[in-house]
Amino acid sequence: MSKETNRVLGHADEADGIEEYDNPLPDWWVGLLWLTVIWAVGYGVWYHFIADKSQEGHLAAEMQAAEVQWPEQAVTAVAFAITPEAVAAGEAIYTQNCLMCHGAALEGGIGAALNDDEWIHGGEAEEVIRIITEGVPEKGMLTWGPILGPEKINQVAAYVLNRNAELTGN
Ligand code: HEC
Repeated sequence: MSKETNRVLGHADEADGIEEYDNPLPDWWVGLLWLTVIWAVGYGVWYHFIADKSQEGHLAAEMQAAEVQWPEQAVTAVAFAITPEAVAAGEAIYTQNCLMCHGAALEGGIGAALNDDEWIHGGEAEEVIRIITEGVPEKGMLTWGPILGPEKINQVAAYVLNRNAELTGN
């Protein structure tokens, strides 16, 4: 309990006649204050040095856990190669699925032209495979990954790249 001294500070003349008592704070209150001060020091040491709760540490730990749970998958899950077989198989896939937007001669139309050196998303095999797999849904290019699967996507990419090389002379 507080020690009530009921001592008056005696500056009523400066405060419109209002008197102020000088009563110390209750011991339990002061005790609580010191407890929080001591706690804060201990918690600070634990947080920064013992448990390392820094944002960097947190992120690194989460990334590591995510890496274990969802290992990075290669875009080309199936080996990619421009072979005559792949190109032939790819042509059939192209005619069935892609021709109506990209044209019989890869000249484009609804879809982007694939018969020139201009690539919106890059003309490397990996980039072409990625864009066919993931699509550009907001532009009308479907996400073909789940529809065709990696092998057929590799084949149609082989056809597109092979035909593109023929047309551009690259
Ligand atoms: C419904 C129309 C449509 C169909 C069908 C379609 N595409 Fe597309 N495609 C598009 C559009 C539109 C774009 C341009 C996306 C953009 O502007 O980012 C595109 C872009 C592309 C690109 C990237 C071109 C670049 O310049 O980077 C490739 C590669 C591609 N399509 C291949 C294919 C293949 C292979 C198929 C068949 C499996 C296919 N597309 C079917 C509409 C289509």
